[in-house]
Amino acid sequence: MKRIRKAVFPVAGLGTRFLPATKAIPKEMLTVVDRPVIQYVVDEAREAGIEHLIFVTGRSKTVIEDHFDIQFELYETLAQRGKTEQLERLKAMQPEPGQVSYTRQQVPLGLGHAVWCARELVGGEPFALLLPDMIMQAEPGCMKQMVDLYDKAGGNVVAVEECDPDETHKYGVVGIGEPVHDGFAITGMVEKPKPADAPSNLYLNGRYILQPEIFDILASQERGAGNEIQLTDAMLKLIGRQPFHGLHFRGRTHDCGTPEGFVEANLAFAADNPALRANLMRTIRALADADRN
Ligand code: G1P
Repeated sequence: MKRIRKAVFPVAGLGTRFLPATKAIPKEMLTVVDRPVIQYVVDEAREAGIEHLIFVTGRSKTVIEDHFDIQFELYETLAQRGKTEQLERLKAMQPEPGQVSYTRQQVPLGLGHAVWCARELVGGEPFALLLPDMIMQAEPGCMKQMVDLYDKAGGNVVAVEECDPDETHKYGVVGIGEPVHDGFAITGMVEKPKPADAPSNLYLNGRYILQPEIFDILASQERGAGNEIQLTDAMLKLIGRQPFHGLHFRGRTHDCGTPEGFVEANLAFAADNPALRANLMRTIRALADADRN
């Protein structure tokens, strides 16, 4: 079985829900507590053993490249000032030379199209796909949990979570089959179904391990929900041809693609941070009191 070495991050989205914050800054660079959103997702991938990061970017996303590059003057200044802790933190997140590749999605035709844009960089091997809108609190991280299942079961693996049955129209939703190790076989998949058409209330939370045959399917994939080329429709065609597993992810997901989820992520990660927790709780209690009065 081939090891999962490469991860794809589709970061070409415009972030219109966050305007004006995202007028000049990519939404993936908005900060959750002390790091940009994309950093959480890259850290999750590296924890899972990923060695090569592939970003599918778009215009005005170059600051993401800068974030994952060495900043010589900054490193020198931190070293001269004895700010060892900050310097070590930056170095630890720094990919090795040659470990990052970038390609552009030239036209916004949907997630399936963005993934297809990475086909030459991925080549003929299975790969991880992480949607940067979703960040997770989990031990171990979501992708590590998925790689553990992949090592036992092989094939394709998607992470799923329960959603409110009224909210299936926001996500890809899966059909559940027999247990496979600590996951289960996926029997079907629908992108953004109405609650009445949803096969379950388990939704795709933005983490995938996919076999390279997905690229052949995406090459001829017609447009689906929202008039976009949907990854979910392409994955559906792999089910039955290749093993396809779901993993009921153990942890908490925050959807940073919406302003509500983004604020929630900030609160949740700040509450987890010992240096911020006490002050945050005081503020929340004061706000709740003021709200009651
Ligand atoms: C995409 C996928 C969907 C998945 C969701 C998770 O939708 O198409 O299947 O459930 O991400 O965030 P989008 O959020 O791009 O509309």
